[in-house]
Amino acid sequence: MSLVAAIKGKGPNGLGFASTADEATAGCDLTGQTVLVTGCNSGLGFATIRTLARRGARVIATARTVDKARAACAGLEGQFLPLACELADPDSVRAAVTSARNGAAPLDAIVCNAGVMNIPTPQQRFGWELHLFTNHVGHFMLVTGLLDRLAPAGRVVVTASRAHRRAPPPGIDFDNLSGERGYVPMKAYGVSKLANILFTRELARRLSAGGGAKQTANTLHPGVIDTNIVRSLPAVARLAFRVAAPLVLKTPAQGAATQCYLAASPAVAGVTGAYYADCNPAETTPLGRDMTLAARLWDATEALVARIA
Ligand SMILES: NC(=O)c1ccc[n+]([C@@H]2O[C@H](COP(=O)([O-])OP(=O)(O)OC[C@H]3O[C@@H](n4cnc5c(N)ncnc54)[C@H](OP(=O)(O)O)[C@@H]3O)[C@@H](O)[C@H]2O)c1
Repeated sequence: MSLVAAIKGKGPNGLGFASTADEATAGCDLTGQTVLVTGCNSGLGFATIRTLARRGARVIATARTVDKARAACAGLEGQFLPLACELADPDSVRAAVTSARNGAAPLDAIVCNAGVMNIPTPQQRFGWELHLFTNHVGHFMLVTGLLDRLAPAGRVVVTASRAHRRAPPPGIDFDNLSGERGYVPMKAYGVSKLANILFTRELARRLSAGGGAKQTANTLHPGVIDTNIVRSLPAVARLAFRVAAPLVLKTPAQGAATQCYLAASPAVAGVTGAYYADCNPAETTPLGRDMTLAARLWDATEALVARIA
């Protein structure tokens, strides 16, 4: 057990920092269910598809290219549909939506896991900063494109991060969506993760306002895990990650636990609009609870998506 796991212990539900995705979904039978997971070829996404397939779900597994998705699924037991979904390319996202819609089955869960971090220089897609476009807009297009295929008790799970704390007020700067002014890579990542949280909160509100259906939307911080996401960090920071990993970091299987729990566990059926960490409820910054900001981001993203259609 790592140092942090020993200090943090377990939450009220018996799960905690050290719980793995398999442990967080123990006893879940997902036979007959279909789940979609983005970023399946690496880190938490790979651990997520492995666990959800083990529990019996048919997994629509997306990666930037279909070859990456196929390679990820190749060695695993279970039922998979590998798909390309390059989140920074609207045509690719739309094609993934079309392919996922072609399957007859409704979607029981959509896990928006893929993410990019610490892009060294400011880059834009359609005028929006690239972390924000990839991590938020790409997933917004995917989820809204599939919403009418979400099962009556379907779940949307969005992988955010504690790094949303790096987004200073006003959180989302609508006068600087290109990110060009005052670009700092980890701040831009933080803004995109705040956007993940705000998108989830507003989606949850809209799903609840629709009445009747028990569809939910939740978001999470997975922990800190030595995955490929650190690839763009300076060498010294990557080395620190490697050294720290056994003591204070989670393994990918532990990092995937909270999103698998939210996607599959009956214990959180009906829970919506929440932010979790270590498989238990947690709290965001006040900006992450700002529903006026969430609504404004939704409208701005919708307008962008309409413009690039
Ligand atoms: N690791 C951590 O400590 C940590 C902490 C907090 C939050 N998170 C979040 O956890 C999620 C998973 O990250 P991870 O740690 O598993 O990192 P990872 O190993 O780098 O995996 C990220 C996945 O996202 C994919 N991806 C990146 N850019 C993409 C794009 N433009 N279109 C489609 N897919 C794209 C990657 O594909 P390629 O392999 O082809 O690049 C990969 O499959 C991310 O949302 C991240 O923000 C991670």
